[in-house]
Amino acid sequence: MARITTGIGSSHVPAIGAAIDNGKTQNDYWKPLFDGYQPVRDWLKENKPDVAIVVYNDHASAFGLNLIPTFTLGVAESFNPADEGYGPRKVPVAEGEPDLAWHLAESLILDEFDMTIANEMDIDHGCTVPLSIAFGEPAEWPCKIIPLCVNVIQYPPPTGKRCFDLGVAIRKAVEAYGEDLNVAIFGTGGMSHQLQGERAGLVNEEFDRAFLRDLTADVPGLVKKQHVEYMREAGSEGIELVMWLIMRGALGDAAKETYSFYHVPASNTGAGIILLEDE
Ligand code: DHB
Ligand code: FE
Repeated sequence: MARITTGIGSSHVPAIGAAIDNGKTQNDYWKPLFDGYQPVRDWLKENKPDVAIVVYNDHASAFGLNLIPTFTLGVAESFNPADEGYGPRKVPVAEGEPDLAWHLAESLILDEFDMTIANEMDIDHGCTVPLSIAFGEPAEWPCKIIPLCVNVIQYPPPTGKRCFDLGVAIRKAVEAYGEDLNVAIFGTGGMSHQLQGERAGLVNEEFDRAFLRDLTADVPGLVKKQHVEYMREAGSEGIELVMWLIMRGALGDAAKETYSFYHVPASNTGAGIILLEDE
């Protein structure tokens, strides 16, 4: 059967992608962050997944305010990097895994998660930057990609509990899939940041570090966290962190932390990464 073996929580800051694309990862500003990513890259080389489900949010690239699906599952054969205003990133096209993606769609919808199904969807920095963080700059991504896009742009986003429960349902669906596949799941976004308004520039290191810790130390506490608390403590765009709870739900109760790292600043955010392994 297929198994979710690996969970990765990661920031998806566009400037991290730009640092990679423009050969700046070793300069004084970026080196500490990329040094922190290296153990995850090394680990993934040794433990290569067959498929990565990448949970992320679109930033008005594939969708605009004309269409705001809460959860969108990409079932296409491939997904092109989006043009976010300065041309698409020169990263590989993501090859999909339509059979597993359609199995997920069926299982999740019959489990009463009303997924939107995308036969065509460009993927923006929310999805491509975590892939670059995890896999560097290969000619092809080393695994198949199933993008799972979440609305955290336009109020109301899904609750943290809804996200966690979706993750649990994803785990159940993957385990019911007949083919032997090693599946990783990425929860991306954040960490604390606010890009607009009076509190623009807000970063809350204490909140971010507690969030990383509680992904293993206090999952029920994280699942209960309300939107208003993310907004107050982590800034308006800190709400992206609810997407990490889909990843957490998909890993199961016994998941252990293999590695985590936190660094401030990365562009306007606190940047974190965590690697969880299923027991
Ligand atoms: C920034 C961070 C994000 O997560 C994002 O989607 C856009 C911008 C930033 O730090 O500038
Ligand atoms: Fe973002």
